[in-house]
Amino acid sequence: MERTLTILKPDCVRKNLIGAVIDKIERAGFRVVAMKKTRLTKATAGEFYGVHRERPFYGELVEFMSSGPCVPIILEKDNAVADFRKVIGATDPAEADAGTIRQLYADSKGENIVHGSDSAENAAIEASFFFSSEEVVSVN
Ligand code: RTP
Ligand code: MG
Repeated sequence: MERTLTILKPDCVRKNLIGAVIDKIERAGFRVVAMKKTRLTKATAGEFYGVHRERPFYGELVEFMSSGPCVPIILEKDNAVADFRKVIGATDPAEADAGTIRQLYADSKGENIVHGSDSAENAAIEASFFFSSEEVVSVN
């Protein structure tokens, strides 16, 4: 079993799509092992996406990610990291495959409904960013 970290981003919450997106995720075979609703500040959003600090879209990304509540979730599945990236689709919804979460629900490259970890190593770091060990409960 592998774990990945997703965030249902503020646009997902504003559009009332929390349930629809989690349904897609569960139907794709993922198990929820931790979940909460929270709101990032500019400081915590900036820290979470710190790898992009030098990129031109960083300011916009921090503004967006702190613009309202979000729902971080730890997911479990065989090959979770790579499989989840397939379920969400390309960063830009215009380039995302048909039926992916971003193709179905996202409005733009910046506001694209969900985050997905890009490696198992980063998934573990990102999971501990949001959750304490008592909040993480495997299915079995
Ligand atoms: P994420 O980390 O959120 O799963 O997204 P990703 O891997 O598909 O894309 P990444 O390159 O890591 O970018 C992180 C987030 O920054 C915003 N972004 N905006 N306007 C732009 O050109 C642009 N590029 C990236 C998106 O919210 C993207 O998901
Ligand atoms: Mg990324």
